[in-house]
Amino acid sequence: MCGIIGYVGNRDVVPVLIGGLKKLEYRGYDSAGIAVVNAKGVDVVRAEGKLINLESKLGEMQLHGNFGMGHTRWATHGKPNENNAHPHRDCTGQVVVIHNGIIENFLPLKQKLQAAGHEFKTETDTEVVAHLIEEKMNSGTKFVEAVKSAIKELEGHYALVIINGAEPGTIVAAKHGPPLVIGIGEDENIVASDVAPLLEYTRNIIYLEDGEFAVLDQKKVEIFDGEDKLVTREPKRILWDAVMAEKEGYRHYMLKEIHEQARAVRDTFTGRMFEESGQVFFNDLQFTSEEWSKFRRVHIVACGTSWHAALVGKFLLEEAARIPIEVDYGSEYRYRNPIVDEHTLVIGVTQSGETADTIAGMQEAKRKGAALVTICNVIGSAATRMSDGVIYTNAGPEIGVASTKAFTTQLTAFYLFSLYVRQLRGESRDDIRFAMHEMLVIPHKIEDLLLKQEKHIEELAHRFYKSQDFLFLGRGVHYPIALEGALKLKEISYIHAEGYPAGEMKHGPIALIDENMPVVAIATHTPVYEKVVSNLQEVKARDGKLIVICDEGDEAMKKLADEVIEVPWTVEPLQPILTVIPTQLLAYYIALRRGADIDQPRNLAKSVTVE
Ligand code: M6R
Repeated sequence: MCGIIGYVGNRDVVPVLIGGLKKLEYRGYDSAGIAVVNAKGVDVVRAEGKLINLESKLGEMQLHGNFGMGHTRWATHGKPNENNAHPHRDCTGQVVVIHNGIIENFLPLKQKLQAAGHEFKTETDTEVVAHLIEEKMNSGTKFVEAVKSAIKELEGHYALVIINGAEPGTIVAAKHGPPLVIGIGEDENIVASDVAPLLEYTRNIIYLEDGEFAVLDQKKVEIFDGEDKLVTREPKRILWDAVMAEKEGYRHYMLKEIHEQARAVRDTFTGRMFEESGQVFFNDLQFTSEEWSKFRRVHIVACGTSWHAALVGKFLLEEAARIPIEVDYGSEYRYRNPIVDEHTLVIGVTQSGETADTIAGMQEAKRKGAALVTICNVIGSAATRMSDGVIYTNAGPEIGVASTKAFTTQLTAFYLFSLYVRQLRGESRDDIRFAMHEMLVIPHKIEDLLLKQEKHIEELAHRFYKSQDFLFLGRGVHYPIALEGALKLKEISYIHAEGYPAGEMKHGPIALIDENMPVVAIATHTPVYEKVVSNLQEVKARDGKLIVICDEGDEAMKKLADEVIEVPWTVEPLQPILTVIPTQLLAYYIALRRGADIDQPRNLAKSVTVE
């Protein structure tokens, strides 16, 4: 979970690298560094902390060249300090390496290389790669061949970009696990961890596959498979433009992305559901009714916010499919020996499409014969490439580490999928049409909600931002929203928060409630509304501070709660798309008030590509 970029062409490379790293900083931000090759040799500049520290260091130097690479780090091996920041070098200083992932056998390799006289300067696993290549070159092997041979000795997961100061103009890239994409430009080529830094230069992108190896120079890109055979692959044309990934005047990406949700949800259903005919259609996923009827169970695998979307998805799909559905964390699924066969459908839910735990769970399911579908936001990402079918969430690039629009578009994708399943099972077109109509008006309701409630939520944040703990309660489809609300608050404000099913509160968490405990409850009109009201009475009886997300005009709730946040009415399966938005805003404004680093919270990274 680091950001990687390498460039070769005619441009001054330092601004290209720094501009690219800014777009990759969400992947890790505990240190950063660049390597630039010019007539004087290889210059490596690194700095602890955020990219801005590296920028100010570079500001004092006159560093130029048109070939180099950069890295922004999320530490795994070795403290996040300048010495451990990438790039790392061999003993000669000519072989320079940046890396995302973990080299699992770095210790035995390091011991072997130390015994052969190599001197290590850092605590990282990455440095071993530079020395290993050097060792191969010492015995006469040419640079590119030495890299190929060194990589065969590595165990673990890596995306590597390597240059040799003695061979300017050649970049070598290798992938086994974490993503690497190559942008094919005119008289320039560029490689990075994702497409965002490439879009300024080209829209023609090649995704490297696991086990592949690429050699780039200014004029060409050659890709080789694990057996060293040349691979021919047409570039994909990426339609996201660079501006979509900028802040557009918002103070933080998170706030911008919260406000983009009406558009993102609309883009996710547009062109897939046709109200007139009552039909749902997916470009990248097609089942016949016969194929669908063979499934006996569905497993949904995901992490973090995507796992919360999966919990809502279970409600929607189980209702539509009437077969058992289980939801697992990716990190648990792969190790629990799940019962999976060719009658199992496994759905991986992942914004990035590169979360290592989710991918591993999906791989395990595939190995056992399951059909794989992914709900994913990133075209061509690892999850999509291994799946039999994909439902893309057209959220556009999500940069804020705290996931917002990815979540509401995942809920939209699940809703569409549930309609698709109802269609496959021969349900009445009229019922499906009604369900579609409700989806069509959701974007307006999101806009309305933001317009009417944002200011009020900001005020609430000002009142509650000093609280030490929060409890979030919900039942049914809103239980996952309680979990998501708690996750959002803790990850960006660092306030302890727990999400609980409201009915479960009396079995333990009720002991926490007193006049200092804010309780955020979701209590819209669902079949369990009255039950939730009883649970909220229990909170009030113990002087808890009750903030309730309820339907517009719920007068009874206004009397019971200390504060209400009203959301427009919609049908139960779509309510989570609306009720989650106040929790996102509350977390955002509380974090803002506490002066937290909202887009890049401490210890986190946008894509978790390690286990
Ligand atoms: O890219 P993914 O959806 O697979 O990511 C999964 C989680 O790492 C992610 O949702 C994480 O929990 C976010 N920080 C939540 O805001």
